[in-house]
Amino acid sequence: MEGVCVNANVNPKTIFTGDNLPIMRGMNSESVDLIYLDPPFNSNANYAAPIGSEAAGAEFKDTWTLHDVDAAWLDLIEAKHPVLNRVIHAAMTNSDKSYLIYMAVRLLEMWRVLKNTGSIYLHCDPTMSHYLKLAMDAVFEKGNFLADITWKRYAAHSLSKSAVDTISDHLLYYAKDHQQVMANKVTSPLDTAELNRRFPHVETETGRRFQHVALEQNSNRSSAGEPRKIGDKTVTSDIGWRWSQSTFDERIDKNPYLIYWTRTGKPRYKIYADEYAGEPVGNIWTDIPYLASGDSERTGYPTQKPVALLDRIIEASSNEGGIVLDPFCGCATTLVAADRLQREWIGIDISAKAADLVVERISDDQGMFENIIARDDIPKRTDIGHIPRYNVAKNKNLLYGEQGGNCNGCGSHFEKQHLEIDHIIAKSVGGTDHIENLQLLCGNCNRIKGDRGQEYLVSKLLVYSKLYQYHHYLKHTLHQDKP
Ligand SMILES: C[S@@+](CC[C@H](N)C(=O)[O-])C[C@H]1O[C@@H](n2cnc3c(N)ncnc32)[C@H](O)[C@@H]1O
Ligand SMILES: [Zn+2]
Repeated sequence: MEGVCVNANVNPKTIFTGDNLPIMRGMNSESVDLIYLDPPFNSNANYAAPIGSEAAGAEFKDTWTLHDVDAAWLDLIEAKHPVLNRVIHAAMTNSDKSYLIYMAVRLLEMWRVLKNTGSIYLHCDPTMSHYLKLAMDAVFEKGNFLADITWKRYAAHSLSKSAVDTISDHLLYYAKDHQQVMANKVTSPLDTAELNRRFPHVETETGRRFQHVALEQNSNRSSAGEPRKIGDKTVTSDIGWRWSQSTFDERIDKNPYLIYWTRTGKPRYKIYADEYAGEPVGNIWTDIPYLASGDSERTGYPTQKPVALLDRIIEASSNEGGIVLDPFCGCATTLVAADRLQREWIGIDISAKAADLVVERISDDQGMFENIIARDDIPKRTDIGHIPRYNVAKNKNLLYGEQGGNCNGCGSHFEKQHLEIDHIIAKSVGGTDHIENLQLLCGNCNRIKGDRGQEYLVSKLLVYSKLYQYHHYLKHTLHQDKP
């Protein structure tokens, strides 16, 4: 079973109450198979569940200002993720920028905790989907983008004033590594009428429905003229055969009724309706209805998603026993679906109401109380061991390679011995000795930065470079003024 993950330091069936950033930072790297996240959409609204509903008391914020963003987040992105930094600065308003920073630091952690065979689905709507696509490209790399899935969540309103209604949500689907990703083809079953139309024949011996397909095929010309022995008949083809004699023997051995004979005595083979997996779905999902207000699945939790949506995602991108993480789990839809499909799960939500709802929904579902672990502490990573000293050659070599031998402040190139290890987020304000929080600076930049943030260093360097340019300009013009 793949789910018994040696990497994991969090027990399956755990629901955390708290901000997902520090909690994910406490999770081991490469320890989950699938991440689904349905974060706030930056919709400029504050959500609250109706009083009296199962979810009453749950509320969350979806408006953003720069005050919501801890400067340390930006420091880390500026120092370590220049492409992501550019994406954030492409945002058009401060509100969008704050939202993107808030998401970016969390996406970096999701990338880290995902296994190399894993996938992530970021659920969003057109408010921010295009910005989030860029942020995902920066974190997961563009080559690992697998699909932008459009989920039709409403029918268009005839009373709407707009010419075109927005009725879609979007799922940005990425692999951690597209060459290793685990994926099961998503199909949708046909209804009976359509199935009967496509499989029009009934096998008299068994009653199974089937269609029949040619066994002679042009593309195999090399076998033209060869005989094939099928049961007690021997036939030759002028065109060529789809199967070798041994394939015929093997398959007919398994199913003696496999061959269909036409009136002119040509063999064809049967494809059975009961073996048809369904129609491939593609990236436009119109067959999963949104939860109507009276739906029995509804808990009253704002923004609740249908279990069927999560069933499809979980079946497509995990196997039984795999670990599913939902870091914005709301009323536990993902966890309920994962539990039913025999996957392990970990949920996180900042609202304490979420933990209550997980227990309620899963025990309703199972008809008994399951071994759910509810926590509000921060897990301790067990995959980095004890870090005795940060100022070691190993770290310096790693960082030197990562930064291409350049100072992370002024950008100038230096020999290794002239660069110093700096804490991006100073230890005095909670920065750690982990490599993720270390960078190399030249002596000069390190002195300027001191215990302050990266932003301070960057702005100081900018002032110095302006002064330098001004100085240069003065020298130049004075020189020109000379007779
Ligand atoms: C759109 S809802 C998720 C709904 C969920 N998919 C469901 O079907 O119920 C977003 C959730 O994110 C939670 N949230 C917002 N910021 C968070 C944070 N920093 N850490 C953890 N959860 C957060 C909110 O409390 C809210 O429940
Ligand atoms: Zn420097």
